[in-house]
Amino acid sequence: MSHDTVTVELGARRYDILIGAALLSDAGRMLAERFPQTRFAIVTDENVAALHLPELSRSLQAASLEATPIIVPAGERSKTIGELDRVVETILQTRLERSDMIIALGGGVIGDLAGFAAAVARRGMDFIQIPTSLLAQVDSSVGGKTGINAGAGKNLIGAFHQPRLVIADTDVLDTLPKREFAAGYAELAKYGLINDAAFFAWLEQVHADVLAGGRRRDEAVAYCCRAKAAIVAADETEHGQRALLNLGHTFGHALEAWCNYDPERLIHGEAVSIGMVLAHQFSERLGHAPSADTQRVKQHLSEIGLPTEISQIDGGPPPVDLLMHHIAQDKKVRQGQLTFILTRGIGKAFIADNIPADSVTDFLHERITG
Ligand code: GLY
Repeated sequence: MSHDTVTVELGARRYDILIGAALLSDAGRMLAERFPQTRFAIVTDENVAALHLPELSRSLQAASLEATPIIVPAGERSKTIGELDRVVETILQTRLERSDMIIALGGGVIGDLAGFAAAVARRGMDFIQIPTSLLAQVDSSVGGKTGINAGAGKNLIGAFHQPRLVIADTDVLDTLPKREFAAGYAELAKYGLINDAAFFAWLEQVHADVLAGGRRRDEAVAYCCRAKAAIVAADETEHGQRALLNLGHTFGHALEAWCNYDPERLIHGEAVSIGMVLAHQFSERLGHAPSADTQRVKQHLSEIGLPTEISQIDGGPPPVDLLMHHIAQDKKVRQGQLTFILTRGIGKAFIADNIPADSVTDFLHERITG
């Protein structure tokens, strides 16, 4: 079967991302070739299990590979210590050895949870990412960020633990609800916004084909995987440019926490969409970015069907002090100073240290009540 291969160059821990159509049905053969004599646990959620687990299980069986499914409830609320405990206990009860492997079959939540379970079970087992959402295919399945949410904030308990292989079957994107696909598109557009104005301009031209599941969609997924692989290879543990991938995430995480991770109100990619617009508006307010670029970003994300304003979230407006509390808890706080990913315009994001909390508070007041 033809597919694109992108390699994440991490020396002895280098791994491939395979991107293409109909890869799920071929996964058993590919895994048997690469990891013979290995037993697997497949961590997935209820929704993905109904859609894709039978095909993956059939494919593993056909390759004489043994696999135990572990199914968790769908949604961000599964990224808890409780679910982690259940997944790890099941791995241990199934008597998987350290040399056996965990497969994460699902979106970003499953990749984070299963990857973290793999990082801690038996002090570290290998795992494979089989991302089934656009968000996971273009971002979260690549790069080894794994973890769960803490009471104090999102993704605050975790580990860098790289997968051994990523299999991104672009056919599975056909089964995504429109809202989920749009949410993933926010992360896809992010690659243009951080350092690739030409990619953003290309998306402005071809987004209809991407949304319709045409050839451009698969090209866009492969392009983003290449961009992500390069960033991760240069800065695996986020001491530098990898932080640019957090564009919009500080505001976005605070909005998700305010919504109590309720998917009826807001899902991650939607929070990132609003967060990226806020990051442009905040940059503009600080005199870094031209307003024309902010308008372009807002216009494009709106065309995709994404929210771009806090007022579009039900149950608002959010109290600014609550958002500031979550922003202060965010992992990008260093020595008490707020670190934001700001921008000088489309494709020109940069890391800004020492942002005074007061300027963020004033900005949020302006956006929410002004
Ligand atoms: N999703 C951001 C990163 O992987 O660094």
